[in-house]
Amino acid sequence: MLMLCLHSILFFIFLVSLNNINISSAETIYNVQTYGAKPNGKTDSTQAFLDAWAAACGSTDPTIIYIPEGRYLLGSVAFTGGNCKSPDIIVRIDGTLIAPEDYRILGLASNWLSFESVSGVSIVGGALDARGSPLWDCKSKGSNCPAGATTLSFVNSNNIKINGLLSLNSQMFHIVINGCQNVQVQGVRVIAAGDSPNTDGIHVQLSTDVVIMNSSIKTGDDCISIGPGTKNLWIERVRCGPGHGISIGSLAKTMDEAGVQNVTVKSTIFTGTTNGFRIKSWARHSTGFAQAIRFIGATMINVQNPIIIDQNYCPHNLNCPNEVSGIQISDVIYQGIRGTSATPVAIKFDCSFKYPCKGITLQNVNLTYLNKEAQSTCTNAIGKISGQVQPDNCL
Ligand SMILES: *[C@@H]1O[C@H](CO)[C@@H](O)[C@H](O)[C@H]1NC(C)=O
Ligand SMILES: *[C@@H]1O[C@H](CO)[C@@H](O)[C@H](O)[C@H]1NC(C)=O
Ligand SMILES: *[C@@H]1O[C@H](CO)[C@@H](O)[C@H](O)[C@H]1NC(C)=O
Repeated sequence: MLMLCLHSILFFIFLVSLNNINISSAETIYNVQTYGAKPNGKTDSTQAFLDAWAAACGSTDPTIIYIPEGRYLLGSVAFTGGNCKSPDIIVRIDGTLIAPEDYRILGLASNWLSFESVSGVSIVGGALDARGSPLWDCKSKGSNCPAGATTLSFVNSNNIKINGLLSLNSQMFHIVINGCQNVQVQGVRVIAAGDSPNTDGIHVQLSTDVVIMNSSIKTGDDCISIGPGTKNLWIERVRCGPGHGISIGSLAKTMDEAGVQNVTVKSTIFTGTTNGFRIKSWARHSTGFAQAIRFIGATMINVQNPIIIDQNYCPHNLNCPNEVSGIQISDVIYQGIRGTSATPVAIKFDCSFKYPCKGITLQNVNLTYLNKEAQSTCTNAIGKISGQVQPDNCL
């Protein structure tokens, strides 16, 4: 009786906690353990997850795929939605999904967990432990290592939510949103070592109407990287560091490239990152652009390049020396940004000779270096300041 009572209280709490993501009352629950998944961290549960997905996906009702507490070993899995009938699938994770111990198993796949062509999928809670550090060690020794897998990706998908997820030690990027519409990422945590290679927290590209809120990202590469074809992106209350900060780019990777437009980043805290707000493009021709970008309200703590536009990116001088960036950067606002720079130059605008940055606005910016005023440098940048701006304006 007591057990029954406890069970219904827990069930009630479970439903209440799901309420904020709008499930209808008709949902059916598919527990992965029913399909043979084992919470022991040893038994490969890949097929069980795929079977639970197929069952949920084949239902015409809203569904829940439930992953109880415990550790579930999973290889590379693609959850595809092409034939899904369920209008709304919640993947509720109370446990931890772990990658195979041998990094080579995932290392040659490009993704660990990918959702492709799905609509109305929410991931709620859970931890994803990709166990990437042996691959990082391999890469640091420069031996013959696989590229590594993205931990979680959504590709060509719509109406997606990721809520309260923890992503640990990805081999490569932690979360990728590629070719999607209407995505909400809320309360996500990313944790990887500050020197782990290419472990970007969240990467967005070719996607529209993406919101990233209330998240904390500690990693070895970009906190959030924003690639070509990103439109209407809203980022708010994100903490970054360690890592490389929030970056638009690298743009001009290819000649024929979609632009980045209407990006707002509000209330960010950067701690010990290499960059704060960066826009970066290769120094070569491209049809891409970046316009209507708003960086509003940020605290920088010991950040190497708090505000930077670098349009002369040309690593190893390959395929770009003596070229200029074809990326037009315009209408970029930096407003209410304060804190400390770890280098003397806190603001650096190094824009394209052929397409100078235009419509840059600095408003109420106060960045210091060793308790003194920092410096700014501008090349091919046109804009204005308003309010108090320190370091002194070079626009
Ligand atoms: C983000 O956090 C704030 C403050 O804690 C809260 O008011 C807001 O509802 C959260 N946003 C979402 C989408 O949950
Ligand atoms: C810019 O994106 C925001 C959402 O991030 C949206 O509310 C707004 O309407 C968009 N503005 C334009 C001009 O499209
Ligand atoms: C800029 O910040 C420093 C350190 O917090 C402070 O001492 C200084 O008064 C601020 N300057 C302005 C113009 O607000």
